[in-house]
Amino acid sequence: MNAIGPVHLTVNGTAHSFDLPGDTKLIYVLRNDLGLNGPKFGCGLGECGACTVLIDGVPARSCVVTLKTAEGRSVTTLEGLGNLEMLHPVQAAFIAAQAAQCGYCLNGMIMTATALLVRNPTPSVSEVREALRYNLCRCGTHVEIIRAVMTAAGARPEAAAAEASAQ
Ligand code: FES
Ligand code: FES
Repeated sequence: MNAIGPVHLTVNGTAHSFDLPGDTKLIYVLRNDLGLNGPKFGCGLGECGACTVLIDGVPARSCVVTLKTAEGRSVTTLEGLGNLEMLHPVQAAFIAAQAAQCGYCLNGMIMTATALLVRNPTPSVSEVREALRYNLCRCGTHVEIIRAVMTAAGARPEAAAAEASAQ
């Protein structure tokens, strides 16, 4: 246990204060204390990407980030991107591309792709593959996921599909 005073951070635009041990993993705070179930618990070791959130806009694995590390930072979860009434363009593209089987990896794919498109709005398929290379999908939905990201980036769906399949 690594007890410190209250830890302050912003989650999806709302300021929060947590009186919890500083070594508490961020995913537990998000899911258990705030009821944000977008981040998924997969490996718990920082290896699969299912738990990805954005911290100050940068993808981070919330299963290994501690509350103390997140002190004073701005955290965005899947819920902070959009909702059913107003989907984020990346969320909408994933639905349009039917880029899911079990769906467990999608939180990480969408959060990582969103950060990619902020820093590179028109990526190539190779750049999308590179950005998502450490996000694991055990269902093998990779072609549809890449197509969704390319569509979100503005590629025509047919062109995105052809390009994603060709590589
Ligand atoms: S659950 Fe965090 S990287 Fe796998
Ligand atoms: S859709 Fe099942 S792990 Fe990716």
